[in-house]
Amino acid sequence: MADLLQRSIRLAPQLGVERATALSSDDLDQLCEAAAAAIIEGGGFGWVRPQPRPVLEAYFRGVLLVPERMLFLARMDSVVVGSAQLVRPPRNNEAQAFSATLAHAFVAPYARGHGLARRLITRVEETAAATGVRVLNLDLRETQAAAIALYEGLGYACWGTHPAYAQVDGSVVAGRYYFKLLGRAPRAAKG
Ligand SMILES: CC(C)(COP(=O)(O)OP(=O)(O)OC[C@H]1O[C@@H](n2cnc3c(N)ncnc32)[C@H](O)[C@@H]1OP(=O)(O)O)[C@@H](O)C(=O)NCCC(=O)NCCS
Repeated sequence: MADLLQRSIRLAPQLGVERATALSSDDLDQLCEAAAAAIIEGGGFGWVRPQPRPVLEAYFRGVLLVPERMLFLARMDSVVVGSAQLVRPPRNNEAQAFSATLAHAFVAPYARGHGLARRLITRVEETAAATGVRVLNLDLRETQAAAIALYEGLGYACWGTHPAYAQVDGSVVAGRYYFKLLGRAPRAAKG
C-alpha cells in the first residue's frame, strides 16, 4: 500500500500556471512545440493549418508586446505545454472597460486530461478579477466539445450562437459565445 502510494505520488505530473511577461528561448521553444502539436491535432485556438516555427515564434513574441494582452503559460513537469491570453478592450473603449476576453487557450495533446486547462483558466479568471475585470467573455467553435465541457463546468453561460463563425477545411462551422461574471455583476443603467 505504501509502495503504491509512493509510486502514484511519483507518477503524478507537476502542474503549474504563470503569467509570462518575457519568454526565455527554452520557454518559447516549448510553447511553439505545444502550439504546433495542438494545431496538428485539430487546432481550436485560432490556427487551422500547421505554421512554420518562425511564424509561431514571431506570433508569441508579438503577443508579449501588445499592452492589452496578458500571456499565461501552463507547465507540466516544468515544460511549457499550453497557454491562454487575457485580452482587455483598447483604451478608447471605456464603455467595456469592465470586461475582457479569454482567448487562444490550449493544452498540447500530450499534456491533456490532467486538469491543467482548468488551472489555467482559473488563473486567468483570478488575474482578471484582480485587475478589475467583472465580465469575462469567450467564443469558440461548436465542434470543440472538450472546451465546451471545460467552460460550462467552470460556470460560463452560453448567450448566443453564430451560424457562420469560422471556416475550417473549406467548411463553415458555427460558434458559441459565452460569458462569466467575476464577482458582483455591473449595475444596470437606470431608465
Ligand atoms: C479544451 C482543452 C484546453 C482541455 O485541456 P485539458 O488540460 O485536457 O483539460 P482538463 O484536464 O483541465 O479538463 C477540465 C475539464 O474539461 C473537460 N474536458 C477536458 N477534456 C475533455 C474531453 N476530451 N471530452 C470532454 N470533456 C473534456 C471536462 O469537463 C474536464 O473536467 P473533468 O476532468 O472533471 O471531467 C484541450 O482539449 C485543448 O487544448 N483543446 C484544443 C484547443 C481548444 O479547444 N481550445 C479552447 C478554445 S479557445
